[in-house]
Amino acid sequence: MPNRREFLKTVGGMSAFALAGRPAPAAPRAAPLETVRLGLIGLGERGGFHLRQLLLLDGVEIKALCDNHAPTAREHLDYAEAQGIPRPDEYSRGDEDFRRMLQRDDLDAVVISTPWGWHTPMAVHAMEAGKHAFIEVPAAVTLDECWQLVETQERTGRHCMMMENVCYGREELMVLNMCRKGLFGELTHGEGAYIHDLREQMKDTERGTGAWRTPHHEKRNGNIYPTHGLGPIAQYMNINRGDRFDFMTSMSSPALGRAQYAKDNFPKEHPQNQATYIAGDMNTSLIQTAKGRSIMVQWDTTTPRPYSRLNLIQGTRGMFGGYPHRITIEGRGETHEWQDLEPYRAEFEHPLWTRVGEEAVRAGGHGGMDFVMMWRIVYCLRNGLPLDQDVYDAAAWSAISPLSERSVANRSLPVDFPDFTRGAWREREPLGIVS
Ligand SMILES: NC(=O)c1ccc[n+]([C@@H]2O[C@H](COP(=O)([O-])OP(=O)(O)OC[C@H]3O[C@@H](n4cnc5c(N)ncnc54)[C@H](O)[C@@H]3O)[C@@H](O)[C@H]2O)c1
Repeated sequence: MPNRREFLKTVGGMSAFALAGRPAPAAPRAAPLETVRLGLIGLGERGGFHLRQLLLLDGVEIKALCDNHAPTAREHLDYAEAQGIPRPDEYSRGDEDFRRMLQRDDLDAVVISTPWGWHTPMAVHAMEAGKHAFIEVPAAVTLDECWQLVETQERTGRHCMMMENVCYGREELMVLNMCRKGLFGELTHGEGAYIHDLREQMKDTERGTGAWRTPHHEKRNGNIYPTHGLGPIAQYMNINRGDRFDFMTSMSSPALGRAQYAKDNFPKEHPQNQATYIAGDMNTSLIQTAKGRSIMVQWDTTTPRPYSRLNLIQGTRGMFGGYPHRITIEGRGETHEWQDLEPYRAEFEHPLWTRVGEEAVRAGGHGGMDFVMMWRIVYCLRNGLPLDQDVYDAAAWSAISPLSERSVANRSLPVDFPDFTRGAWREREPLGIVS
């Protein structure tokens, strides 16, 4: 039996409510909406892109736009109007003006694309105000925030989805389809990553993504952006729907690349040269699931190297790996060599891509995955269907960050994942996206 101190350490930020052991309800099925009436909070690089894509979809009304930077809000209001829709209402009176927007009774849902620290407070307030919450990645920064999302979703019955767009990538949905059809046999191991040289963002000092993202490298050491690589692997493995993340251990490399970049690119007295970067250039975490499967998750946005999400899954009958794509399946060819992927593509293209793939590629957005995600979200809302990612996924996938920080700070000590489903993962049905 753990003593009280160990117990409190294991449950981390879990609140008294969470500890009460109330069974988690089934995935919410909100009433179908003929038209999805939306407000957007945060209209920077990502929010602006969501707006442009939402304007392409049928059955969507953009009612309100909120950004604490008034010129940014107005630029997007002008854009929306120029696309021929009635001018949405403006909310740009500072950091808390989103609350005024959420008082409206003509919004069904909000899309939140603000800096990370705002995600949970905004989503919680949105659900409390009766709106479905769609949050950019990661949904939460601390374990306490993960629990806040879970508890608020359960209490309000509103949807809470973290919009992990990579789960809608063409390859990722094809591989999900392959997993569901048993092509890899019993799954044993997966690898996901976010390896993307983003040092350029250090040049955003006043506004823009780097202005708020770079300071995270000065305060945190772990995997601070885990969900792009992990989300698809979690879906392949039915995490929260038959399996769950059990525990994790994490290790960071030295933090050298950002200081080197600052030295090479900014004057000596520039703030980027005064800063101390503590986030290891490469973080590697290893997760064990309740079924004993292993998952490696990496994060590196600092090293000069080509982009990769790894996207590797293997089982008793073969494996698929991304970057570059490789497949080998027993019974379909020689397994000591890579097999031709093309016949597999023809056989396992995911129905969502068959249906909207062409339109998605035309609309753009990370090769079309962003469009497929938005299309699917609107489809589910209009048909009263559960969403493909729910609040338990948002919490479990986001929890990697605080747990990795804790493990790194303690010589890679294993750390337990909270069971955000409170045991319901055993009975919850695997994702029905393929059927
Ligand atoms: N899924 C993806 O592929 C992907 C890609 C890029 C960014 N993102 C995520 O999207 C989010 C936004 O990133 P970004 O690159 O667009 O950043 P950004 O800095 O370009 O945009 C953020 C916007 O939020 C606004 N904002 C900040 N605080 C606010 C507040 N209190 N109220 C209203 N508006 C506020 C800012 O003025 C800015 O316009 C982040 O969570 C990021 O991780 C996801």
